Amino acid sequence: MSNEAPEIRRGLAGVVADYTAISKVNPETNSLLYQGYPVQELARYCTFEEVAYLLWNGELPSTEELRRFSIREKALRHIDRGLIDLVMSMPLSCHPMDVLRSAVSYIGAQDPESYTKDSDHIRRTSLELMAKLPTVVALDIRRRRGEGYLEPDTKMGFAENFLYMVFGKEEGSPANNRADIEAFDKSLILYAEHSFNASTFTARVITSTMSDTYSAVTGAIGALKGPLHGGANEAVMHNMLEIGDPAKAEEWVKNKLANKELVMGFGHRVYKKGDSRVPTMEAAFREVAERHGGEKWVEMYDIMAKTMYDNTSIHIMPNLDFPSGPAYHLLGFEVEFFTPIFVMARITGWTAHIIEQNENNSLIRPLSAYNGPDQRSVPAKSID
Ligand code: COA
Repeated sequence: MSNEAPEIRRGLAGVVADYTAISKVNPETNSLLYQGYPVQELARYCTFEEVAYLLWNGELPSTEELRRFSIREKALRHIDRGLIDLVMSMPLSCHPMDVLRSAVSYIGAQDPESYTKDSDHIRRTSLELMAKLPTVVALDIRRRRGEGYLEPDTKMGFAENFLYMVFGKEEGSPANNRADIEAFDKSLILYAEHSFNASTFTARVITSTMSDTYSAVTGAIGALKGPLHGGANEAVMHNMLEIGDPAKAEEWVKNKLANKELVMGFGHRVYKKGDSRVPTMEAAFREVAERHGGEKWVEMYDIMAKTMYDNTSIHIMPNLDFPSGPAYHLLGFEVEFFTPIFVMARITGWTAHIIEQNENNSLIRPLSAYNGPDQRSVPAKSID
């Protein structure tokens, strides 16, 4: 046996674990492709529904394919009485991600074929989760506000229906404003997929054991909840609210850096020269801010980004969570719902990876290097 110390890549940093045809992240050219298409172009020319179809089928839908896909998605939006009761019974003190995780388990428990490896069945499951999770999130938002449940609309597009279920159609609701609907839709497209990130990899690990889609998705939700991953968009807004005044932003960031603390919404494991999704989301955020009186947040955003860039030796730049946090705040969402919104989008990427992993499976099981005590015997008195 070799005495050489094994090469350990902590956090699997830089490790290429497998092939994927779903998306390509290129940190050198600062680009992200979904099935070959630049994400900026998809955000500009397509709807979230078209992107979901692309991720699951490898091609953008024709007009007729999109029409049929949308009819099926709309028909699956309703949730049954049992799921409504489950959401209503969850403690108000729990994080909305806990509600979502439980909702996926509930939906899975009703699927007698949950263990299938049939890609068409998993595509149907994926569409059902994409259609139902916004209904669950909207119900959870409204019950915490003390507002009644608004049933999904089966005529509106995906983003508009969600905004309607959360905010209704009263004056001032973003569901009435085409530009707000489009900004929100863009954020979903940008959040939809990002290769082997922590939650997607979690879904693939669970799938690799031949477990079911719902288990893989609940595991992914758990991974996404963490503040180093999806939870960062919430942390960003908590920080911005804590800073309160753009005049205090520079000093706040400098203090964090001096104390060697992380500034959420900055940095990325793969992108080191800027996150490819940021320019599109930043533009959407600036537009939302213009419509909703958010100049203060834009000013704070710019100061924080400049201070981070100027005061870190590696010029740390914003990631997608930095512009999406204040954009969601300005649209009227409570901060703890930012990560559940991320789930509503990423469910498409997760399930695309579940299908891909299933179609060419190999159990994911790395090795570890042991650094505990040498072999020893259990003391005699414990054996007595
Ligand atoms: N704030 C302050 N310092 C940061 C930072 C941040 N957001 N991101 C990275 N750094 C620092 C690291 O602490 C490290 O400093 P050191 O060399 O003194 O130890 C240095 O920059 C290099 O970091 P790096 O190794 O390139 O980062 P990573 O790949 O280990 O981590 C993240 C990537 C995403 C986990 C990290 O940037 C982070 O925690 N960001 C905040 C959380 C966040 O926004 N997550 C969402 C990701 S999409």
